[in-house]
Amino acid sequence: MINFDQNATTPVDEEVLDELIRATREFSGNSSSGHSLGSKAGKFLRECRERVARILNAADSDEIVFTSGGTESDNAAVRGIAWAMKREHSRDHVVTSAIEHRAVLAPCDWLREQGFQTTVLPVDQDGLVDMGALRDALGPKTALVSVMFANNEIGTVQPIAEIAKLAHDIGARVHTDAVQAAGKLPVDVQVLDVDALSLSAHKFYGPKGVGVLYLRRDTPYHCFMLGGTHEGGRRAGTVPVPQIAALTKALEVSERKRNEHGAELRGLRDQLVAKLLEKVPGAHLNGKLENCTPNTASVRFDGVYGGHLLRKMDEAGILASAGSACMWEITKPSHVLTALGLSDEQGGGTIRFSLGYGNTADEVDQVVETLAKLVPALRAEKQPQ
Ligand SMILES: Cc1ncc(COP(=O)(O)O)c(C=O)c1O
Repeated sequence: MINFDQNATTPVDEEVLDELIRATREFSGNSSSGHSLGSKAGKFLRECRERVARILNAADSDEIVFTSGGTESDNAAVRGIAWAMKREHSRDHVVTSAIEHRAVLAPCDWLREQGFQTTVLPVDQDGLVDMGALRDALGPKTALVSVMFANNEIGTVQPIAEIAKLAHDIGARVHTDAVQAAGKLPVDVQVLDVDALSLSAHKFYGPKGVGVLYLRRDTPYHCFMLGGTHEGGRRAGTVPVPQIAALTKALEVSERKRNEHGAELRGLRDQLVAKLLEKVPGAHLNGKLENCTPNTASVRFDGVYGGHLLRKMDEAGILASAGSACMWEITKPSHVLTALGLSDEQGGGTIRFSLGYGNTADEVDQVVETLAKLVPALRAEKQPQ
């Protein structure tokens, strides 16, 4: 099986799996319990928080809140900060972009239902946020700007520090969804200058169901998850120390992979694109490879239905995706491809290839060879004999 669908999820790294098993055995206590077993888990949890804070370059480990993953972190940041900014500063306007993950767009919709104003920034054909539209949108009522660091479908990397400067100048707070950035790009909260940032372990060789919400100290925040004082009152619920141990290890391992093999990964992705465009007639790249995560390429094939092509690829042992994994069952092109200005037909013929650190040049060649046969065959099937 060739896995070119690693933006959907990554396989758990062996070192991370060992850590998950070790921590499950060793830290069986509840980190909130005062007895020795609980204290042992609590002490290790503090260590993990410090290690994560160090990698993200957070000023203080208290700024790291562990969650159940990217969706929860996005929900908590968008709803929690906007709600508190309204309560504390009478600001009730939220700005986001048209290509955010649903985990950001849906909370923005919810805020609108609660009486907030929302602005959804358009993007250009490469997926970059329109900075002029951002400048026009920002005002004294703006509470929060939430723009993703790296897009899951096309890989576009946004100029977050520049966005943050504009937002901070008018007193707004900034959140970025960095779920697709970790392990592929440096994620430094000081360089990005954000007040909140989301991560999810299963996107960087960790287990599913655990994530991070970075919350800069003094960021107004209302906790919607009620029922306990865990995580400094910012996320109620018994803290899953073994999963957090695995997330911490995964962040360290993926940083090491990025430093040692990042250029290789980019090289493989670039080879894939160059060969597909050369060997498959009617193949086009969506967006640009510059300003893109090193592992992602969104390619459309004229005259082919992506869902059909994906099934044939799966039969041939190749995994990829049309738009995002969560949209697998939906036949309409995703909101991201539509926002780039692609027609229904162009969006419908789009395949997302997302590589990971285990992939090889041989696999790239096999995928190109297979598609060079499959795409013309599928086109011929559509023609009357
Ligand atoms: C950009 C982005 N944000 C958020 C999420 C949601 O993360 P999780 O699967 O951990 O809930 C995903 C997952 O696909 C994503 O790609």
